[in-house]
Amino acid sequence: MILVREIDPADLALFDEWYDAFRAGAVAGREAALVVGREALGYSLRNPSPLKQRIAVGAFEDDRVLGGMLFEYRLTDNLDTVEAEIDVPLAHRRRGIGTALWQWAVTRSAQLGRTIVQTELGVPSEPWPGAAFAERLGFGVEHVEEHLVVPLPYDDLRLEELQSGVGRLDGYQLISWAGVCPPEHQQAYADLHTAMDLDVPTGGMTREVVPWTVDKLEASEARIDRNYLALVTMAHTDAGEPAGYTLLYLPRADAEHAQQDDTLVLREHRGHHLGTHLKLANLEQLAKHRTTQRFLHTWTALSNAPMRKVNARFGFRAVEEHRELELRLPHLRPAARAVIVDEEERILLVRFEFADGPLWATPGGGLEAGETLIEGLRRELVEEVGLEGFPDPQHVWHQEVVADGHAEGFDGVINDYFLIRTPHFTPAGAMTPTELRAENLHAIQWWTLSELESHEGRFAPRNLPTLIRELLESGPPSTPTQLGL
Ligand SMILES: CC(C)(COP(=O)(O)OP(=O)(O)OC[C@H]1O[C@@H](n2cnc3c(N)ncnc32)[C@H](O)[C@@H]1OP(=O)(O)O)[C@@H](O)C(=O)NCCC(=O)NCCS
Repeated sequence: MILVREIDPADLALFDEWYDAFRAGAVAGREAALVVGREALGYSLRNPSPLKQRIAVGAFEDDRVLGGMLFEYRLTDNLDTVEAEIDVPLAHRRRGIGTALWQWAVTRSAQLGRTIVQTELGVPSEPWPGAAFAERLGFGVEHVEEHLVVPLPYDDLRLEELQSGVGRLDGYQLISWAGVCPPEHQQAYADLHTAMDLDVPTGGMTREVVPWTVDKLEASEARIDRNYLALVTMAHTDAGEPAGYTLLYLPRADAEHAQQDDTLVLREHRGHHLGTHLKLANLEQLAKHRTTQRFLHTWTALSNAPMRKVNARFGFRAVEEHRELELRLPHLRPAARAVIVDEEERILLVRFEFADGPLWATPGGGLEAGETLIEGLRRELVEEVGLEGFPDPQHVWHQEVVADGHAEGFDGVINDYFLIRTPHFTPAGAMTPTELRAENLHAIQWWTLSELESHEGRFAPRNLPTLIRELLESGPPSTPTQLGL
């Protein structure tokens, strides 16, 4: 039985186990995967940024982590978007673990009212499991970059050759620093970051660009500086106007991989080999500060011919395709529901009365803001039928229904169903009959399986009697079954 839940990053042993699974899934079959380091990710999860929520989610079997997801969303901008990265180690693939983690992401996105899911994929060759998985979920590839690598230490001879080939830099000054930006350059550096965000090609990815301020730069650099040494070279004109910059990161924890991040030359300053000069100056810094890192990674849009030419001159070799993908979800209302079964295998159902007639369904209901599925389920069951004190139940079905009229103001609903086995009880919820009727709930009744199967009326899900028979005869599925209507 696979159980998907958030992990507490303060539980260091659990975080370590989660990270091992997450990382193993991410690097499998990839020569040059670059995965955020254990220290950097642990720090970021334990010390949340006011700008971004990051959640580590694990798929557990008997308390062992079999797969992981990093689920993130920004808190002050890009408010329709979440990012999800799902990684399942090779040994546990094709058992529905990736799908179970994905279902968690869909439910949580719905709860947050967010409808755009973004993800990234490193694809070294085709066919590739991640690409097949993402395509099946409905993701579209919106942007493709080349992921390139050069070995370190950087080849001094190549550096000299490039330096003599590129000539003198007239009309511009270069300033380099390691660590956070010196105060006198902060405004220019923040402005260049904004220009970068506006200029960097991201294909069809949905992105709201928020201008950088000195405050935001300081806060962001202070966080990054704990785990990465930033090496920056910035160019300005002789008159002091900012013209461009390049930035690379060295992880502070013992690590093999350094990362060439942004390189920007403002449009009006292009055509003077400024990009090459910036990179050369920054590589000189790299030679001084490098410790254990053996590879320098960079990414360039396939459409960016000039930058690809520069990369080739610097000796970078393409190792995989880096794809950015996006999926739009309908705006669904998430609900937690229970298949309640007593010791004689009777099932407790509730009757809704709608304009088009009665409907028998499982008890439960919509999640409130901030509630987990289990918390929502417990609250609903106390309210509707008076059931409490049961152990965490098994998650058996996941259903996404896009249809009018299921939930006002929404495109439909997501129902996550849990199996609860309990001694027989007389339903008596905390809500009064009048309150229940206000929610269209008019009756609560125990059914035997044969009563269910011979009933002519409607159920939700439609094939509820068949689903319950399967559940009772075969036991709960190891990962939640995806239901139709
Ligand atoms: C992609 C990944 C998460 C899938 O995990 P998983 O637990 O094997 O996924 P599931 O068992 O839930 O697979 C669901 C469906 O995806 C598709 N799929 C998954 N792996 C596939 C493969 N190797 N080839 C073809 N289709 C595949 C299938 O349709 C599969 O359903 P099926 O097994 O009933 O045919 C896993 O391969 C992985 O961690 N890869 C590396 C990281 C990555 O690329 N993540 C995806 C980006 S979010």
